[in-house]
Amino acid sequence: MKTKLKIAAGFLALTAITVGLFSFGDKDTTDPSKIKVEGEMVAELTAPPFVPKPVGNRAATKLIVNMEIKEMEGEMADGVKYTYWTFGGSVPGSFIRTRIGDEVQFHLKNHPDNKLPHNIDLHAVTGPGGGATSSLVAPGHEKVFNFKCLNPGLYVYHCATAPVGMHIANGMYGLILVEPEGGLPPVDKEYYIMQGDFYTKGAYGEQGSQPFDMEKAIKEQPDYVVFNGKVGALTGDKAITAKKGETVRIYMGNGGPNLVSSFHVIGEIFDKVNIEGGHLINKDVQTTLVPAGGSAIVEFKVDVPGTFILVDHSIFRAFNKGAIGMLKVDGEQEKTIYSGTVQEGIYLAEGGTIQNMPKEKGVAKSTVAKTVPEQVKAGKEIYGRTCFACHQSEGQGIPNAFPPLAKSDYLNANPKKAIDAVLHGLSGEITVNGKKYNSVMTSQNLTDEEIANVLTYVYNSWGNNKTNVTAPMVKNQRGKVVAKAKDIHE
Ligand code: CU
Repeated sequence: MKTKLKIAAGFLALTAITVGLFSFGDKDTTDPSKIKVEGEMVAELTAPPFVPKPVGNRAATKLIVNMEIKEMEGEMADGVKYTYWTFGGSVPGSFIRTRIGDEVQFHLKNHPDNKLPHNIDLHAVTGPGGGATSSLVAPGHEKVFNFKCLNPGLYVYHCATAPVGMHIANGMYGLILVEPEGGLPPVDKEYYIMQGDFYTKGAYGEQGSQPFDMEKAIKEQPDYVVFNGKVGALTGDKAITAKKGETVRIYMGNGGPNLVSSFHVIGEIFDKVNIEGGHLINKDVQTTLVPAGGSAIVEFKVDVPGTFILVDHSIFRAFNKGAIGMLKVDGEQEKTIYSGTVQEGIYLAEGGTIQNMPKEKGVAKSTVAKTVPEQVKAGKEIYGRTCFACHQSEGQGIPNAFPPLAKSDYLNANPKKAIDAVLHGLSGEITVNGKKYNSVMTSQNLTDEEIANVLTYVYNSWGNNKTNVTAPMVKNQRGKVVAKAKDIHE
């Protein structure tokens, strides 16, 4: 038995070696440490979501990277200020693009206005601390060190000055790409995105200047989980874009400091993923794991137009902590791939008679709310089970996702718009109290009375204009749209 196991183990080891050799075979066989460099150049550095030009066919060179550390105030979300520590003035830090065999001369400059020493650990570096041991630099100083790029791949870099977690939590991370000989295959669009988790004294959305919260960071309970350093960095007019038929490549990193990302694009499938930013390619992937301090390169062709939502599919992070981005794709509809709604009708689960009963019963049974206070009382109960999840208990909504109902100029301008939204749902961009929202509200299956009551409750709460919405008003709106739909069909 023992011998058999040994043989099996031996066979497995042999298989592993063979597989290892095989995957080595598709790499350049030259020892990367022996690749000669030609001339020198200053590296192009870019702020997210953009990346420098591909290396293409250029020879390995001496690449000079000038990276400046800046401690600066920024906005975590609307009205929420946060002091970020940055590589190059952005979170994530400047994207660095190199090729295998490059000799990088790294200049780390700590701006004189900064308060703290910092350093840099690049995961692309073969050497102690990934450069951290050679790069600790005080404000108003510069440190220089050199390294040779031995392994192609997409690597995270970060500050590694104590307390390391705090430096990373404040935004000190970015990506460095080491392209293989001849460069990566060309694509139409390339973007740079990094996820990060943030820990603030105040809860999500709490206004004003928010200091870092070490307790929450140690407990791994972030208030914010975001792409590119802030809520809304990639939504609305800051969305990344492509045209139908183009191939999009995203260099996706995760700075952490704590959470692992389940990166997903709603309505797309990754044609190719360089798992963990390395050599191994997986195909036809729905969601890819991006470790803290790790990366992935995802590629997909966009076949249909529309807005595609980027999320961490640990989904409360997306809808409640900010991990949402957008890819807007322009172009003609492609009905054979995606038809859009082709039919909408009544669904009778168990036949018409049974379907109709609860509603008739409900109306007959419920003491119809006659006065405004009665309507408000009934409406509050409906709000609690229907609207509350998105619009929140005090009608405050969720920043960048669901508009507020409190003191809402949108609602107060015209109750017909409110009735239509509840009756038929709402999609596309709307502006509420000066802020743009672009999410989807589903139509609510409520009776005329229920809609009247819930809207009367909303209008009589949180500083709204006390409109009394009645069942006949709702009925009237319902009728109008039916007539319109009829016109279209005829
Ligand atoms: Cu630092």
